[in-house]
Amino acid sequence: MTAELIDGKAIAQAIRDEIKAEVDQRVAQGLPRPGLGVLLVGDNVASAAYVRMKTRACAEAGFHSEQIDLDSSVSQDDVIQEIRRFNADPAIHGILVQLPLPGHMDVQVVLDNVTPEKDVDGLHPVNVGMTSSGRGGFWPCTPLGVRELLLRSGVQTAGASAVVLGRSDLVGRPMALLLMRRAEGGDATVTVCHSRSRDLVERCRQADILVAAIGRGEFVTANMVKPGAVVIDVGINRLDDPAAAKGYRLVGDVDFEAVRQVASRITPVPGGVGPMTIAMLLSNTLDSARLHDRKAAPA
Ligand code: GUN
Repeated sequence: MTAELIDGKAIAQAIRDEIKAEVDQRVAQGLPRPGLGVLLVGDNVASAAYVRMKTRACAEAGFHSEQIDLDSSVSQDDVIQEIRRFNADPAIHGILVQLPLPGHMDVQVVLDNVTPEKDVDGLHPVNVGMTSSGRGGFWPCTPLGVRELLLRSGVQTAGASAVVLGRSDLVGRPMALLLMRRAEGGDATVTVCHSRSRDLVERCRQADILVAAIGRGEFVTANMVKPGAVVIDVGINRLDDPAAAKGYRLVGDVDFEAVRQVASRITPVPGGVGPMTIAMLLSNTLDSARLHDRKAAPA
């Protein structure tokens, strides 16, 4: 069997087109454009590239966006001050603090300063609590994008056995919660595996849906995949490759060529989950703008 590819790029573009149509409609009705405030701290090349993609996506969808670039030597207090400016700015509905932050900062303290109403990354404790208890709030964009990929590809999650490899705040934990919750794209029986899990291979082999978010290049090999499983690869890793022009190539957490011979469907890297993260950032920011409209409307 050769797995069918799940085309994240095409699905993400369809979502971005839907969002753009709604933004055009908003503007025609005199409502404000959704606004995203982006904070980029330091000179991490990959982060700068991600932020460029995010701000370009904003422009294409008709969003307002503002980007603040700060030097890696900036103090934590200065970063928090910029966050507070975005918190107070009525043209900004969503705030993205690109991670990772420089080592001298306490990430939790910085992120806790983003007002929960504009926390479109879903990392503030208020949103972590709201989402996990089924009371609304913003989910982190990457797991939300995986859910949308599964839904739009017609993958049945209800009753399925799902294994999430990885337990990070940004992906693994919220992914497991989304898959298990009583809702569309949920109702799965979920197992979370991580670097300390015993019987990892056997557990992965039980999965009808395997989401790999462990952050290790080509970690998932063919023997870890049940024949016919749906495999979602969240990883982006640099693998040294002297034959490549840059001396490395980008690979996912899945050994793509081997696993595609076993799975029924699989996401490629790049072009799978990555574009979905950006589409969901726009989606969360549009949701935030809608909520803001409701609050601003006269009673
Ligand atoms: N760095 C890598 N992924 C993400 C993400 O989803 N959000 C933020 N803020 N930073 C990231």
